[in-house]
Amino acid sequence: MSDISIESTLQEERLFSPPAAFSQAAQIKSLAEYESIYARAQANPEQFWAELAQSELHWFKKWDKVLDWQPPFAKWFTGGKINISYNCLDRHLTTWRKNKAALIWEGEPGDSRTLTYAQLHREVCQMANALKQMGVAKGDLVGIYMPMIPEAAIAMLACARIGAVHTVVFGGFSADALRDRLANGQAKAVITADGGWRKDAIVPLKIQVDKALENNACPTVESVLVVQRTKQDIEMLAGRDIWWHEIQPTVSADCPAEEMDAEDMLFVLYTSGSTGKPKGVVHTTGGYNLYSHITTKWIFDLNDTDVYWCTADVGWITGHSYIVYGPLSNGATAIMYEGVARPSNPGCMWDIIEKYGVTIFYTAPTAIRVFMKMGEELPNARNLSSLRLLGTVGEPINPEAWMWYHRVIGKEKCPIVDTWWQTETGGIMITALPGAISTKPGSATRPFPGIIAEIVDLDGEPLPANSGGYLAVKHPWPGMMRTVYGDDERFRKTYWEHIPPKDGKYMYFAGDGARQDADGYFWVMGRIDDVLNVSGHRLGTMEVESALVSHPSVAEAAVVGKPDEIKGEEIVAFVTLNSNYAGDDNLIKELKKHVGNEIGAIARPGEIRFTDALPKTRSGKIMRRLLRDLAAGKEVSGDTSTLEDRSVLDKLRGND
Ligand code: WTA
Repeated sequence: MSDISIESTLQEERLFSPPAAFSQAAQIKSLAEYESIYARAQANPEQFWAELAQSELHWFKKWDKVLDWQPPFAKWFTGGKINISYNCLDRHLTTWRKNKAALIWEGEPGDSRTLTYAQLHREVCQMANALKQMGVAKGDLVGIYMPMIPEAAIAMLACARIGAVHTVVFGGFSADALRDRLANGQAKAVITADGGWRKDAIVPLKIQVDKALENNACPTVESVLVVQRTKQDIEMLAGRDIWWHEIQPTVSADCPAEEMDAEDMLFVLYTSGSTGKPKGVVHTTGGYNLYSHITTKWIFDLNDTDVYWCTADVGWITGHSYIVYGPLSNGATAIMYEGVARPSNPGCMWDIIEKYGVTIFYTAPTAIRVFMKMGEELPNARNLSSLRLLGTVGEPINPEAWMWYHRVIGKEKCPIVDTWWQTETGGIMITALPGAISTKPGSATRPFPGIIAEIVDLDGEPLPANSGGYLAVKHPWPGMMRTVYGDDERFRKTYWEHIPPKDGKYMYFAGDGARQDADGYFWVMGRIDDVLNVSGHRLGTMEVESALVSHPSVAEAAVVGKPDEIKGEEIVAFVTLNSNYAGDDNLIKELKKHVGNEIGAIARPGEIRFTDALPKTRSGKIMRRLLRDLAAGKEVSGDTSTLEDRSVLDKLRGND
């Protein structure tokens, strides 16, 4: 039930119009207004983006050229000088927003903290100066491995302020995953915390950093800045590790923002592909600032009276664009929550909405399914009347979950924006504008102005309405990734040559299957490659398989996703063992734990099945399609003629 099949969406005919009062007060008020903006942007994208860049952002120096497009490499606003930390902080200080709440943070144990724009600016400047003292300079890469505390946002903004490139590594990733990313980026420093609170327990972080740096595995890392959060004993290495609370009072709060080139790198964020190691997705300053800013403003219809809450983690792109940069660039008040709903406090999300009068709530289908399971008594027992807009991201939302969200949380009065986008796109690409576009449960609706999206076949030919095909984007946009860190070829191959360019015209290949209905609405069906989507997080099959194979007992492994009611997909691993190992329950436990240690708990397989051999094609490719059917308990469908050895499949069926 977790993924939307073409058949079920075809029957989905419910249509929800924005409430009239919502539209009247909205930034974009009607379908006609959306369509006219869209048409203007389509006719002249460069002029459209240039006008917005001029009116929405502060530039130290205006650009010379709006777009320099040498496919597949785009440069936006070349010659322009800008700093995103300035746009998120300094420019608000000369307005009444100076003393407006920028971040309202709620810790899992119940502690809380509010930082106004002036206070946030002060702390960012201090951390920026601390980084300088640690020897971090413009262009250096800094790893950020943090719990969801204000200092995570402060660290990102401090890096941006001095022109250091940040790479945030999700706090749930293991020491090994952290080490790979720090080494790949040749990080100069790491910002971390002793630990964070999640599900009533301390998630230790500093100790993982120590492990990642062991044996000089990342020789470029010179120093580690440690924020005190959970206060358990940790080791501090003299000459390398520095406590934030010790250095903070000694550094100046005066740190002017560096004037960055629009195309200077802002951050690298690693994401999974189907093959090879995670890719470092590169985003640069000016275009990303504009794109995250304007999508936040129009899609979340932000006003100064809003209290906006995005429940993502800063370790993912959603946290980058829609907790930190987009909301702060708009001068919004954003909530940040350290924890998640858990058995000891199943109503915590609704308590926070009531406590702070949250007006805009942006979460993921996997979270919505957890809320559904916990029962509607929990939200019903709280006052959620402050809410006026809801959002979802991360995977296709099944219409049942959409309807529950609409009825129980939105009380049938809040529009829902189902936002389709990716780490690579920098910001939301396909979504309703809540005052303008009527919604259909399960559809991300229409493209954002300036985004020319199409459903095509593998030759790049557009497909008629309701035919399933590949989701592609035809024109560059300011928030697009610029390259794969250190690997232009991989960037070109993965995203721009999958659909062969014709007459020098390139299309961005998103890797998702989708269709467009007769009203032009997009229905995203999910990944067409072997990327898993577990709880809204992308994991490559290859990474999980490599982790399994790194265990001495495992000869070969193939992992697939199996539909899961809560997580969207659960990982099922098919494993062949080296001789001398017995495939028993103890080994299953050990292998699950091993993957958890290698990558992180989210990658831990839900199920491990031992087999004598894996089904392969004659050219030796594992036929994951067959395994996927087996894992889901379905009859194997589709063509099996390319199987090298049919008996493998028969045996696997017997195992079933
Ligand atoms: C999926 C998260 C359907 C999609 C922002 C995409 C979605 C991948 C939606 C990117 C949505 C994200 N409807 N599918 N509203 N949002 N996806 O990089 O498969 O973590 O390619 O970015 O998530 O995941 P990523």
